[in-house]
Amino acid sequence: MSSVSMVEVSKRYGDIVALDSVSLKIEEGEYVCVIGPSGSGKSTFLKVIAGIVKPDEGEIYIGGRIVNNVPIEEREIGIVMQDILLFPHMTLWGNLTYGPIVQGVGYAEAEAIAREVAGFMKLTLRMKAYPGELSRGDQQKVAIARAIAAGARVLLLDEPFASIDSRTAKVLRFELKQLAKDLRLTVIHVTHNQEEALSVADRIVVMRKGKIEQFDKPSRLFSNPRTPFVVHFLGGEANFFEGRVVKLEEDGVIVDIGLGELVKGEGFRRVGERVVYAVRPEHVDVLPSEDGGIEGVVEEVNLMGFYYRAIISVDNRKIVVRLKDRLKFLKEGKVVKLRFKRGFVFKYPVEGLEEAIKYE
Ligand SMILES: Nc1ncnc2c1ncn2[C@@H]1O[C@H](COP(=O)(O)OP(=O)(O)O)[C@@H](O)[C@H]1O
Ligand SMILES: [Mg+2]
Repeated sequence: MSSVSMVEVSKRYGDIVALDSVSLKIEEGEYVCVIGPSGSGKSTFLKVIAGIVKPDEGEIYIGGRIVNNVPIEEREIGIVMQDILLFPHMTLWGNLTYGPIVQGVGYAEAEAIAREVAGFMKLTLRMKAYPGELSRGDQQKVAIARAIAAGARVLLLDEPFASIDSRTAKVLRFELKQLAKDLRLTVIHVTHNQEEALSVADRIVVMRKGKIEQFDKPSRLFSNPRTPFVVHFLGGEANFFEGRVVKLEEDGVIVDIGLGELVKGEGFRRVGERVVYAVRPEHVDVLPSEDGGIEGVVEEVNLMGFYYRAIISVDNRKIVVRLKDRLKFLKEGKVVKLRFKRGFVFKYPVEGLEEAIKYE
């Protein structure tokens, strides 16, 4: 059993609230990534599960057992951080057998465990090598293997691939995911790399200011974002408008965002309610000026590799648009029409829109 739960866990450092009444349940065998701006509490989240930091309030459960007073070494967790912490004076073999030996199994059994884990991880390295002789990617692989050999059922990873070149990191992320599934490990993986999170996570925790903004499947963070911040943080460059609901329809609401044309969005709100309307750049259609839609002027168009990014000014607002192909009429200075294919409607935040989407 290696589910991980938190019930109303808080941790403060003086005036800073690093974790603010966090509750969630991560299932056994689940691969969860934690993302959020720097300072949002991601590392503290891992540290309270690990037992490195004691929460001020709340309960932490691993495998259904409350572990608030259980020391790190008895939590059956493995911790791997950005800075690789192998024993530099021990061979790889020594590193892998260390955990089991310390836990008191005999040398033969420790070797069997190490061999099994090395096999699982396809570690074809020279086991007599010292960590310093390996690439950073291989060192990190050994660090993960060492945690598993030591009996970890829950892996806590804090930016484990941040100092590894991106090509190697990409291979490692899928190997690690496969390994976790093969061994039914529960993984909680903090990363600043959204692409990494989206490609391996079963579910993602989006953190902000010590709170969980949303804990959901990657696809649902896009299809059903819970807050303007989630729209802003994932993918970036979303367009936000303040508006008012003018009409309810079966599949959404019609909103007046003060740009002439009314727009349609997803969300359940009341008529007359003040709302935030969010549109992702890829959900804006750009049409020739003869067409209907919100009128704007093309400010700039840039090729971004796989797509075009254009800025269209509407009144004194700048709307960011993302297009797969360059349209003939999309030229700087030209008048175009915009249509929003998809928008998300949120209750207007008490702290104001700007504050609600700020990274910090
Ligand atoms: N040991 C500490 N002492 C004081 N403040 C801390 C300590 N650890 C973290 N913090 C503060 O708590 C907040 C959350 O930090 P952290 O969990 O490291 O965020 P993240 O990993 O998302 O960048 C930040 O404001 C950070 O400065
Ligand atoms: Mg951190």
